[in-house]
Amino acid sequence: MAETPSLFDRLAVAETPPVAAEPVTVVIFGGAGDLAHRKLLPALYNLHLDGLLPPRTSIVGVGRKEFDDNKYRAFAKDGIEKFSRRPIDEHAWPTFADTVSFVNASIDDTEDRALAPLGSRLDIVEHERGLSGNRIYYLAVPPALFVPTVRQLNRARFVPPRDQATRDARPFARLIVEKPIGRDLQSACDIDDAIAEVFNEHQIYRIDHYLGKETVQNILVLRFANSIFEPLFNQKYIDHVQITVAEAEGVGTRANYYEQAGALRDMVQNHMLQLLSMIAMEPPHSLESDVVRDEKLEVLQSLRPIAGDRVDAQVVRGQYAAGFDLGKPVSGYRQEPGVSPTSTTETYVALQIFIDNWRWAGVPFFIRTGKRLPKRASEISVHLKEVPPILFNANPNGPLDPNVLSIRIQPDEGFALGISSKIPGPRVRVYPVQMDFHYGSTFGGTSPEAYERLLLDVMVGDSTLFMRRDAVEAGWRWVMPILDRWSAQKADAIPAYAAGSWGPEEADRLIESAGRQWRAL
Ligand code: BG6
Repeated sequence: MAETPSLFDRLAVAETPPVAAEPVTVVIFGGAGDLAHRKLLPALYNLHLDGLLPPRTSIVGVGRKEFDDNKYRAFAKDGIEKFSRRPIDEHAWPTFADTVSFVNASIDDTEDRALAPLGSRLDIVEHERGLSGNRIYYLAVPPALFVPTVRQLNRARFVPPRDQATRDARPFARLIVEKPIGRDLQSACDIDDAIAEVFNEHQIYRIDHYLGKETVQNILVLRFANSIFEPLFNQKYIDHVQITVAEAEGVGTRANYYEQAGALRDMVQNHMLQLLSMIAMEPPHSLESDVVRDEKLEVLQSLRPIAGDRVDAQVVRGQYAAGFDLGKPVSGYRQEPGVSPTSTTETYVALQIFIDNWRWAGVPFFIRTGKRLPKRASEISVHLKEVPPILFNANPNGPLDPNVLSIRIQPDEGFALGISSKIPGPRVRVYPVQMDFHYGSTFGGTSPEAYERLLLDVMVGDSTLFMRRDAVEAGWRWVMPILDRWSAQKADAIPAYAAGSWGPEEADRLIESAGRQWRAL
């Protein structure tokens, strides 16, 4: 019997993208790397399955590996088999495979003709496929190669002069930059300056993959397409807000990068500040990309700076020690491969943040993120103020649970509203219950991955879900005094927490000293 299509599938069929993407060549620098394997090639394949890749699309991987086209296709297929949300479809695969090719080149800033092999290949591919030269360059390379790659693109004349590259000019050249953009404000500005010598801001798409998550996009819909929440979203009714991004995984094989980064740079400066902006921003007057991004920037600019000894009072960092993951013993961070045995890199951070604007004055936002926590769970919870201590809330020994709106970013995507209800029976007894929405049971199917949405947006030229230069720099500006304080402190200032626990005790004290508690997830 044929399966009934899920609501998601039926709605997806009815949906046409708002603007059709134009034929394009996607050039992936770092094409044989981990990101391409796990995320980019599977995302492009899923766009192909949905008929969303523009006709005649060409995907060219660039890297140091000695791949020919066939080997690269096998590499792409392997990534799709392992990481795609949908399996290989034997009918759809050959046409996708046909779009994929590989060029062996290494980006060496001193070598003038480093991109010559890519140039010849692009000429051939674009001629064969009848493409007009629209190109997207994806920097899926280590950050140290961002600037050299952009300079090479410029030297090879792959990018039109900036004064000719208006929004409507064709063919277009667009650049996708992965995080991390810099490791502090100065290095971020240096990278941005160097890129700005070659590309105009409207051609640059800085990825924060959290913005591509369906549940994160739904924050704006939840807030501004319903009349019940927005009137309450302010200091009159909200007691506090919590944002948690918990990961069960440890540092894995990324010690090289992570040792230089730590949780504040890796998660807070970007993903968590973006979540904070989305939940706290004013309603934009339109969905135009700069209008939305202006409102988000306002939030970042209203964050009360945390500096000097306020850092010790409002920020807690921690590092995981040996412990358990689902009952299995796991090693501590300092014992992970590639990590220094005396490392002081934080794998956990919790903060108390204030937004000094009219709407949120005095409302604390508590933020925490860490690796090797008990489970993978990301959630924003908005805690409303208690009802007055009369009627049902008159018992000081058993106060009612305040209402909480919890937005589950992942997994089990959805949201719930905790409310008080009467227990059936002759006596009046009040019990906390949940109004609960799950994407899975309502829409069925699997939502597109963040990278699918983001890649498609670059193809259609919509930068709403990307980080504008001013937002990246505002994020760095705000975290700098915290980084400065930490670098001036002694190494032993970093508390340990057992892998598989909810972080250091200091984080509990942080929130408890403000009269609140972390939500149990
Ligand atoms: C990345 C960080 O940006 O986000 C990783 O560099 C982190 O350290 C990852 O694990 C989390 O992303 P997700 O989508 O799995 O929540």
